[in-house]
Amino acid sequence: MSKAKVEIPNDYKITDLLHQSTYLVDGELKQWSGDTTEVYSTISSTETYKPTLLGTIPTLGETEAMEALKSAEKAYDKGQGLWPTMKVEDRIACMETFVEQMKTKRDEVVKLLMWEIGKNLPDSEKEFDRTVDYIYDTIEAYKQLDRDSAKFEKHAGVYAHIRRGPLGVILCLGPYNYPLNETFALLIPALIMGNTTIFKPAKIGVLLISPLLEAFQNSFPKGVVNIVYGRGRVLATPIMKSGKVDVLALIGNSKSANALQAQHPKGNRLRMVLGLEAKNPAIVLPDADLDLAVEECISGTLSFNGQRCTALKVLYVHESIVEEFNRRFAYKVDQLKFGNPWENGAKLTPLPEVDKPAYIQELIDDAKDKGASILNKKGGETTENFIFPAVLFPVTKDMRVFKEEQFGPVIPVVSFSDIEEPLDDMAESDYGQQVSLFGKNVTTLSPLIDTLVNLVCRVNLNSSCQRGPDVYPFTGRKDSAVGTLSVTDALRSFSIRTFVASKDNDYNNAILNELLDEKASNFISTDYIL
Ligand code: G3H
Repeated sequence: MSKAKVEIPNDYKITDLLHQSTYLVDGELKQWSGDTTEVYSTISSTETYKPTLLGTIPTLGETEAMEALKSAEKAYDKGQGLWPTMKVEDRIACMETFVEQMKTKRDEVVKLLMWEIGKNLPDSEKEFDRTVDYIYDTIEAYKQLDRDSAKFEKHAGVYAHIRRGPLGVILCLGPYNYPLNETFALLIPALIMGNTTIFKPAKIGVLLISPLLEAFQNSFPKGVVNIVYGRGRVLATPIMKSGKVDVLALIGNSKSANALQAQHPKGNRLRMVLGLEAKNPAIVLPDADLDLAVEECISGTLSFNGQRCTALKVLYVHESIVEEFNRRFAYKVDQLKFGNPWENGAKLTPLPEVDKPAYIQELIDDAKDKGASILNKKGGETTENFIFPAVLFPVTKDMRVFKEEQFGPVIPVVSFSDIEEPLDDMAESDYGQQVSLFGKNVTTLSPLIDTLVNLVCRVNLNSSCQRGPDVYPFTGRKDSAVGTLSVTDALRSFSIRTFVASKDNDYNNAILNELLDEKASNFISTDYIL
């Protein structure tokens, strides 16, 4: 495998370090003069390999964490704050201000996405644009939700005006693989529903939030968005222990989610919106279109080097076609170009986690010790910041790569003779997000689909697994998720139904009519926002 080229286009060169010296609390970008943490990229700017220093972030402590919590609590003010009681159209106006300012920062954010997490240029641009679209779609979905609620119902002589209201203070933690998109897919719906937030950017993929800090500060009332930097454990632990967090919104792994949940003194008060780990399988049936299956399995296993919760992490291929599948698949894997994110056509890029190549190597060694071989020529070749994806076969249940969520470039292939084998494995697995099913014969497919939909939450027919389009429900069973995200589902996840009820009599009806005529209540309204 050839190393990534070090010529860096001028637009993407790191000329100045980014010292993030402020954090956002109570509407103020507070200057930090304490300890800082250096942020490195695993991408080298020199021929002789050396991680590149990108800048620094504040290493905040418990005091600042509690300061951020107080600020979010004050802005929520037990539901009486300006933000949770604001007219829907006014909250929407704040969000529109934010997204307009955010759009002006595209180039800076995209450049940092490439350096910090090694995502290639087209995917980094896609992550930014998809997030902007997500915000606009959320605004439209909220308008629709509001229109649907702009009415009174009457049952058994009781009128009801039902809307969705905010839940309170939300602690929002995102992942490194989609540090913008996945984090904002939590933050934006949480905000628009009237909640106040404390957001700690991911450990890797943190500087890319800096260009947006002022937009957050300018667009929302003070205390509605608080952004803190530092170690998750140091900051999130006291915040959770306070018992003042109403929703834990986290995309990451179940260990962190469980640990944080356990710190809350009143578990019953804590709502959780979690996107967690997965081990999505592909099942390739004997009559599958092999070229299509190979192509989809390549993007499914290796988009962003396999660092996606939705990535295909184990391939089950029927024994009658496994040899041919392996031949074509292994060949295609070796054709993928490795390079730095801005290199034209680079599909495989440096891994942002320093210890990831060694971990993947451990999985390969363990599988080889237990009888698997590497099928592709380049499989397992390493550089300082990458390990070329190895296609491992035959993989068996006793191998670590069969059980662990590799979240990186290594592909286990399992051969099966009876469809019950992958189905049983999926039933036993701790995960239940999605599956890819490759085949054609409807007599075979129908009973399989009927079972698979009860094992996971999305069955992708002849295509790789993915989260999008964002209007579709994104969720999982078992250790893979809590709650459902999509443009509309997220609005529900971050809110609760609450309503005003009144008995149908002249006295109450006159009051309701006056409330509507005066337009004095932000909650009681039958106006349509167009
Ligand atoms: O890491 C998990 C992401 O939700 C995956 O999203 O399927 O669009 O890559 P994606």
